[in-house]
Amino acid sequence: MSNDSSSGRVAAELERWIDAANPGSKLPSTRALVARHGVSPVTVQQALRILVGRGRIETVPGVGTFTLAVRTARVTDFEWQTAALGAAHPLLPDAPLALQSPPESSIALHSGYPDRSLLPERLVRAAIGRAARSETVLSRPPSAGLPALRSWFATELTTVGAADVAAVTARDVVITPGSQGALVTVFRALVGAGRPLLIESPTYWGAILAARQAGVDLIPVPSSASGPDPVDVDRAFTETGARAFYIQTGFASPTGTVWPADRKQRILDLARTHRAFLIEDDAAHDFAIDETPIPLAAQDRDGHVVYLRSLTKSVAPGMRVAAIIARGPARDRLFADTQAEEMYVSGVLQEAALDVVTQPAWRTHLRRLAEQLGDRRDLLIDALTNHAPQVRVETPPRGGLNLWARLPDRTDLPDLISRCSRAGLIVGSGDEWFPAEAPGRHLRLNYAGPSPERYPEAARILAECLAR
Ligand SMILES: Cc1ncc(COP(=O)(O)O)c(C=O)c1O
Repeated sequence: MSNDSSSGRVAAELERWIDAANPGSKLPSTRALVARHGVSPVTVQQALRILVGRGRIETVPGVGTFTLAVRTARVTDFEWQTAALGAAHPLLPDAPLALQSPPESSIALHSGYPDRSLLPERLVRAAIGRAARSETVLSRPPSAGLPALRSWFATELTTVGAADVAAVTARDVVITPGSQGALVTVFRALVGAGRPLLIESPTYWGAILAARQAGVDLIPVPSSASGPDPVDVDRAFTETGARAFYIQTGFASPTGTVWPADRKQRILDLARTHRAFLIEDDAAHDFAIDETPIPLAAQDRDGHVVYLRSLTKSVAPGMRVAAIIARGPARDRLFADTQAEEMYVSGVLQEAALDVVTQPAWRTHLRRLAEQLGDRRDLLIDALTNHAPQVRVETPPRGGLNLWARLPDRTDLPDLISRCSRAGLIVGSGDEWFPAEAPGRHLRLNYAGPSPERYPEAARILAECLAR
């Protein structure tokens, strides 16, 4: 039995005891509970924490643990908040599907995160241990981030940069706690509420959310298997007067698209012509499988590209560190915004992240990860081909974590998703990735989650739910 279920069982038994006891009764000591329930002290502590959480007991340090009277809660009255809050923002969903935690027994293809078996766990644990013993625990790091980590991000970009592009320096880098917040910062500081932002369609749902949070006006630009058409981009810049375009040039979420080199160059030229920013989100940088795209930022001479690079998914979701790289006055605007928003990022996390990515074993890990992701991608594509022929993966991705799967046009997507969920398969609705109405029915299927051996079963469930 797992520790969690043991503590749940002890909590349930203790709750029966509490039901029969008077309020204020003292619980037996931890040692007595260990003996009575035949479990470890850790399990007893967990059970007690569960009961504290349920409001059944309270612990008085040095005295003991006591039962609490069951509260007879008055009916709450939140009506006053209706007037205080005003009209709801109609476009902000409260729980994007990609962040939901489904039951463990289900097959989860909806998440955007790699399974823990794909993380460099030993490197991360060792790095956290070292960082926890360092000075950073007790000190405030520089507001823009630890200089060594900023240099690492700068060097990574400079190394792949064109020869006629000035080296990126640590000063151009601002460390942030993840790139999601950085998106809000960039949209707020460089675009501003009520002003237009070009955005690929489909694109990362979190960027759509961040743009709405920043109040910017989204202008969708269709993006195909080779990125957005320069003619569309040119027209959108001209018609709207936009001065910024949010893009993903390498293994875009959700499609996995990599922009060809000449497309990148054309879009950079357009940014120069329209004197605009390109906000390049390179979230899948570490998930190359068959090719290693070079970010557009590496070709940018004059500060048109604002580059976002996150370590959340590749190092560990629990160690959320990212960087904004920007040059010129834009960098100062962005830095000022991050100061107002978060002041600085935990030095412990920064130091641990730097420790991980500077170990020789990190490179070995990324090479092995590429093989594992390639195998999983092929497995899921094969499973769909063999068991769900109605589902088409038009362009198998050459990196990233997801398949972008096209469904028959008449599919009722919400209905399909809830049928699948009832049958134990969790899939992400393609609709969440469109900044406007979706022109087709899609699912985003993550091949980096748990249990790849269940892909054939997942494909069969999907086919059955589609057939009904
Ligand atoms: C394309 C893209 N950008 C940004 C993010 C945000 O990542 P984080 O805030 O963890 O750095 C994600 C996460 O799913 C993503 O897929």
